[in-house]
Amino acid sequence: MKYDFDRIIDRKGTNCLNVEGWRGYIFKCGPERKFAYADDEFVRMWVADMEFAVAPEIRQAIKDRVDREIFGYTLVYDPDYVKTFQKWCEDRYGWTFPAEQLTYSAGVIPALYQLAEDLVAKDEKVITFTPSYGFFLHTCEYNDIELVHSPLKFAGGHWDVDWDDFEKKCADPKMKLVILCNPHNPTGRIWTEEELKRMGEIIAKNDLWVISDEIHCDLLRTGCKHIPLAKVMPDYKKLVTCMSASKTFNMAGLMHSHIIIRDDEERERFKARDKSVGDLNPLSLAAHKAAYGQGGEWLKQLREYLDGNFKLLKDFMDANYPECEFEIPDATYLAWVNFGKALPGEDDLCSFFANKAGVLLEGGDSLFVGNAEGWIRLNLAMPRSILEDGFARMKAAIDAAR
Ligand SMILES: Cc1ncc(COP(=O)(O)O)c(C=O)c1O
Repeated sequence: MKYDFDRIIDRKGTNCLNVEGWRGYIFKCGPERKFAYADDEFVRMWVADMEFAVAPEIRQAIKDRVDREIFGYTLVYDPDYVKTFQKWCEDRYGWTFPAEQLTYSAGVIPALYQLAEDLVAKDEKVITFTPSYGFFLHTCEYNDIELVHSPLKFAGGHWDVDWDDFEKKCADPKMKLVILCNPHNPTGRIWTEEELKRMGEIIAKNDLWVISDEIHCDLLRTGCKHIPLAKVMPDYKKLVTCMSASKTFNMAGLMHSHIIIRDDEERERFKARDKSVGDLNPLSLAAHKAAYGQGGEWLKQLREYLDGNFKLLKDFMDANYPECEFEIPDATYLAWVNFGKALPGEDDLCSFFANKAGVLLEGGDSLFVGNAEGWIRLNLAMPRSILEDGFARMKAAIDAAR
């Protein structure tokens, strides 16, 4: 391995949400709430960023841009920027997009907030699969529109779409927009070509808008392939694809994403109403170009390392908690585990693991919208030695509670 994923990096004092913001995010509390562990004693397996250093190629590109000394108003004028991203898409997914359809946003979430406002009137509805990434709900709450849940079915160790439910809810005359998480957070499902085609048929039949949030599309287990929804709906105009190198290359704080909008009218409206008035961060642009242009080898090695971390969890679960459903996901660095089965009667798993094990994690309906009770999400993107410590602490806490 050329890159070192075992190195432990101190993030204290970097204004880091992962280290300093967990009270507010997970427990909706401030420093007044006391926990059984001191802040720096926790193993942090919660928010979706990684404990790994950003690839040296990206850090160098940022440094080179810093050395140009001036950080004035910035947009993309370099045709190589778009070509580099198009080539990444072509090479990895066998799909690309016309350059003029590409717009930018300071993150997928800000884009979702804007798109939902543009596309859905107050008395209309949005649908997504549950469990769901919490910000799909917040997008609807912010815009004062209803989010309809289509619960995924868990059977045979696998999460599947309930097609009858999805089809029925999409046919509601008030339904306007599908937010698809592709691959899916938190279950880590990659949707198959057949599933995407079937979703596409239902969407097209009901003339719905669809936003395909593909932010996790490069974080795959070795051997897995991502299929953009746009690839199976090549001519459908009411489709928006959201991508970014932010998750995969651990630079969410740089706040940059690619929003590919096919419909000319919506694209113009989106750009005109962009709250950052089209300005981009020059360091984020340098970082994204380096990620897509030079990040392939780093990503390959990251994926191999994550494969090992998932195997560690699988072995741990099989040996200790065979009753708790868990399958290694196709995508993301997040594990979705039915730990409730190891702790029947414990209805606040986040508090249990924080207080009894000193492990910070997310789970349940309050963080994952619905269909999530008893399930927790573990972020495995960290040096293996930290994970081993986290799993040992979780086991000790469960043993003591039983
Ligand atoms: C599905 C999904 N979409 C979007 C985001 C965040 O996007 P951004 O940081 O670009 O706003 C996350 C972060 O975890 C996510 O899981």
